[in-house]
Amino acid sequence: MTIKTATLNNVLTIEIARPEKKNALTQAMYTAMAEALEAANNDAGVRAVLITGQPGIFTSGNDIEDFMQRPPQGSDTPVARFMQALLDCEKPVIAAVTGGAVGIGTTMLLHCDLVYVSDEARLAMPFVSLGLVPEYASSLLLPALLGHVKAAEKLMLGEPFSGSDAVDCGIANAVLPAGEVVNHARRMAERFNALPPAAVRETKRLMREPGKARIREVMAAEGKLFSSRLRSPEAIEAFQAFFQKRQPDFSKF
Ligand code: COA
Repeated sequence: MTIKTATLNNVLTIEIARPEKKNALTQAMYTAMAEALEAANNDAGVRAVLITGQPGIFTSGNDIEDFMQRPPQGSDTPVARFMQALLDCEKPVIAAVTGGAVGIGTTMLLHCDLVYVSDEARLAMPFVSLGLVPEYASSLLLPALLGHVKAAEKLMLGEPFSGSDAVDCGIANAVLPAGEVVNHARRMAERFNALPPAAVRETKRLMREPGKARIREVMAAEGKLFSSRLRSPEAIEAFQAFFQKRQPDFSKF
């Protein structure tokens, strides 16, 4: 079982549970998360959704072997369905970033409503180092949050950053000790139980709706490039280097 779901006290928990591969996300895992998010919209017993990982790792992002063997193409893919489902989730989504959050592990946070990060977490969006380009509208949302030059450190250099940096730049609400982050995020999720659900839903819609059309446009543009870059010699060198546990050599490009 690599995605565990459970509803307790009206909070649907989606737990990424593939620790032996640092919670790398496969196509089946994206599908499982998408299905859970889609079902939450129609389940009156779910007042909030909590996304969490394993101690020390939230997710190392897309499974790189999947990138090599089954590169996602077009909009009808498990990853696209997951992205859409999170974007369209009408219930509040709370993330408990239990540790490392790489690639989509960080960009998905831009689409959550409350984000709590472990003091041991390192976040990173190393798309360029992998020969890729940013996804999930991060090329739009990060410069809007941080300004171009700070976003460039994270997206063009792929510089990792800490939970407190994430708070400083508006990606996260707070940093918690590693042992407390999930419980804190759960307590925050349970606060929605005492609030009127339709008012919560409409408020989220008002906050998210104005930006959505632009987000979808940017995701489409990013997605096209991302798919073609997955087959690029630069990306193939980066993926091979990862599995051969060596530094990639981009000097020949
Ligand atoms: N896809 C596929 N396998 C992955 C993976 C990923 N995204 N991330 C980790 N793994 C696998 C490793 O290949 C290794 O497998 P092995 O035990 O069979 O050799 C195992 O998980 C443990 O990873 P390892 O790199 O040894 O752990 P670490 O603690 O030294 O480093 C990370 C953890 C997350 C920093 C590192 O694994 C990493 O950088 N992963 C890739 C992140 C990435 O580039 N994601 C794509 C973003 S678009």
